[in-house]
Amino acid sequence: MKTLAWKNHTLQLLDQTRLPGEKRYLCCTRWQEVRDAIRVLAVRGAPAIGVAAAYGMVLAARDIASAGPDKRQFEVQLEEAGRGLDGARPTAVNLHWAVQKQMNLARKTLSSHTVAETADVLEQSACATEQDDAEMDRHMGQFGAAELGRSRHPLTILTHCNAGALATAGIGTALGVIRTLHEEGLIHRVYADETRPLLQGARLTVTELMEDQIPVTLITDNMAAWVMKTKGINAVIVGADRIAANGDTANKIGTYGVAVLARAHGIPFYVAAPASTFDLTLSDGTAIPIEERNHDEVRRLSGILTTRPDVDVFNPAFDVTPHDYITGIITERGIIHHPDAASLTAFFRKEG
Ligand code: MRU
Repeated sequence: MKTLAWKNHTLQLLDQTRLPGEKRYLCCTRWQEVRDAIRVLAVRGAPAIGVAAAYGMVLAARDIASAGPDKRQFEVQLEEAGRGLDGARPTAVNLHWAVQKQMNLARKTLSSHTVAETADVLEQSACATEQDDAEMDRHMGQFGAAELGRSRHPLTILTHCNAGALATAGIGTALGVIRTLHEEGLIHRVYADETRPLLQGARLTVTELMEDQIPVTLITDNMAAWVMKTKGINAVIVGADRIAANGDTANKIGTYGVAVLARAHGIPFYVAAPASTFDLTLSDGTAIPIEERNHDEVRRLSGILTTRPDVDVFNPAFDVTPHDYITGIITERGIIHHPDAASLTAFFRKEG
């Protein structure tokens, strides 16, 4: 299942809102279509929305260039498109990172190239971002499998939301680690939280794992404690949307609860995320913007009203797990054990 593909100046996005029932691709030829696809979660998952936004900037650049603007007009209009893409979802920093990367490259290229050449350079950069993302997943998979698979006994793992191929341009972050362990015969079973309200676990993680013949059992979110107590969970692995400089980690709502439960049961809790998910400008998780989504997502299940239509609702899409609940952050450059301000500073200083 390919999450996204760039073909003939068009960004094709697998419409994840229709999974698992239907595999249909959206064809985006304008940056506004990419923004809307990100907003409605047709494409979702931090790394995937970063890659989609990088291509969105290419669509914007081509569209703006076709009107024959001067370089200043081109830059101003591209900045406007960048703000539109960046504003589609607030929590995953990969989106901001990808837009800024494209914008900085455009400014630099414009100083010595035409607007049309600049659009070409942005296209090459978006393709490279996609390839890099796939490469990073492979590295995370290897580091994660080496860490978790040390005992060489098949593991029972619990995961939350979808941090798989559908959330990236590669094999996934958390599911990339699980896939790598599975290739080595080291997965006994994966328990997938269904992930209310939008069911990314039930719809997406289950689909990915079953298609790869990795044993998976679906549970509702409120079963996690009992499953930890009774099913011999060896580790929890989740993805991340933004990691602050002290290791506090924003991920899908419910992740924090899973981390607290893992601590209570003495189960190691791992986060898998590429460097583009770290936001070292934020000293801790309190400043991470948390997206609040439409209240009908909670009032309804797959479109069907399950409560009173006028009930008050709180619908944060993410929560922040304090760093001291995290055993290790698996990155494409290695593992940060017991993440905190000091270990992150040392890790990023070493890595440059
Ligand atoms: O709202 P979503 O589906 O975009 O949320 C996705 C998550 O929370 C993922 O766990 C995270 O983006 C990591 S994806 C590799």
